[in-house]
Amino acid sequence: MVRHYFIATMGCQMNEYDSDHVGQLLQHRDFLATEDPKKADLIIINTCAVRAKPEQKAYSLLGRMIVLKKRNPSLIVGIMGCIAQQWGSILLDRFPGLDFVLGTKEIGKLPEILRRLEQGAKVFAADLNRMSTFPAVRSGYFAGRVKSFVTIMEGCNNFCTYCIVPHVRGREVSRPPEEILNETTALVAQGVKEVTLLGQNVNSYRYGRGHGDGFPSLLRRANALDGLLRIRFTTSHPKDLSDELIQCFGELEKLCSHVHLPFQAGSNRILKAMRRGYTREHYIELTEKLRNIRPDIAITSDVMVGFPGETERDFEFTMDLVRRIEFDNLYSFKYSDRAGTRAEKMGPKIPEAEKACRLDALQSLQKAISLNKNRLLVGSTVQVLVEGRSRRENQMTGRTGTNKVANFNCDMNVLGSIINVAVKRCSPNSLWGEVLD
Ligand code: SAH
Ligand code: SF4
Ligand code: F3S
Repeated sequence: MVRHYFIATMGCQMNEYDSDHVGQLLQHRDFLATEDPKKADLIIINTCAVRAKPEQKAYSLLGRMIVLKKRNPSLIVGIMGCIAQQWGSILLDRFPGLDFVLGTKEIGKLPEILRRLEQGAKVFAADLNRMSTFPAVRSGYFAGRVKSFVTIMEGCNNFCTYCIVPHVRGREVSRPPEEILNETTALVAQGVKEVTLLGQNVNSYRYGRGHGDGFPSLLRRANALDGLLRIRFTTSHPKDLSDELIQCFGELEKLCSHVHLPFQAGSNRILKAMRRGYTREHYIELTEKLRNIRPDIAITSDVMVGFPGETERDFEFTMDLVRRIEFDNLYSFKYSDRAGTRAEKMGPKIPEAEKACRLDALQSLQKAISLNKNRLLVGSTVQVLVEGRSRRENQMTGRTGTNKVANFNCDMNVLGSIINVAVKRCSPNSLWGEVLD
């Protein structure tokens, strides 16, 4: 009998990658994916612990999924990802209907866990002191997909004072380059044209003895793969962005003109309290070097407001940096206390209302900058990798090398090709245009 699984994925690209790992394991065991949790025999929630909001969202979804057991008593409900890793067996006590908790490095154990559940055992598995297993790319799984992720390293050694990630993903470990390149080749064989190489801090990728092979050398090898059209990577940490890596933007034609370089705060005092390991001056210098090598490079970033002790003056430094650099896009967050981090014990805490006010000011500023940047593209031609249908009927959607969303009308079958689009109009978040050729 065919069984169905439903997986809800929250959080970052690491979780998206992990959910695909789960999908490949389950499809191997005759499970089919469903978008409707009511039709599922197995429900898994892949969670994020980075801020209080996604954590609350995960618990409320978990509650709603467990209720479905009333209609379907044989339904299995599990939790994986960063919350699963952080709270482990405590979750089994808190949610009596929960069947299993799967740690961030235990995905490969899922088939075994399902077997043990059939015998009635509740399983808790969360051991950070091991290297993950990685998916064996399953034939046909990626059919129809134009882009995909490939994990190149796991974990993080930086322990920024606000951040839960090192506590739930363990220390940095790099995957062997051959494994990464083989996985990429297998994806390309299924039609994937663009890969994003993933890690919390890809700049410190290093494999092998002595100095080993660093990230630039991995990029060069990926650039040589036949059939692959585009390479992206995320995330890079400013303190480790080397000149050699910046140089890659001048040399590698498949490397997209986009870098995501989180700065987190514009005030040196706050950067120090965050333990980020760079100053605003150093950050500005990096963006100048990148723009010198690739004048069209898009720079996007993450920033937070209301870190403990952040004054109005500190916040002004953040606003100033945003004005100066003119990011193409900015992901901004209110600081959120995370259990077990150093910032949790720092003070004074900034009131929620003040954080909301700062976030508002920052987001309006960025919206104006994003719109201005997109307006400069109206009247020009951009190269778009076509990813699929847009939400609007008859329109197709894709991204430019600079990672901007572009929509256009098109009847031809252009999925997976890079086409020229003449930009006609824009919003802060997307471009609209007409296909040339
Ligand atoms: N490895 C990446 C970040 C991963 S977390 C890096 O170092 O840049 C993604 C983003 O969430 C971070 O860049 C940060 O802006 C935000 N973030 C992390 N912890 C947070 C917290 N406690 N409160 C608010 N935002 C946080
Ligand atoms: Fe978190 Fe800092 Fe590591 Fe990024 S570099 S994952 S923000 S600890
Ligand atoms: Fe969230 Fe874990 Fe990613 S905490 S941001 S899902 S590494």
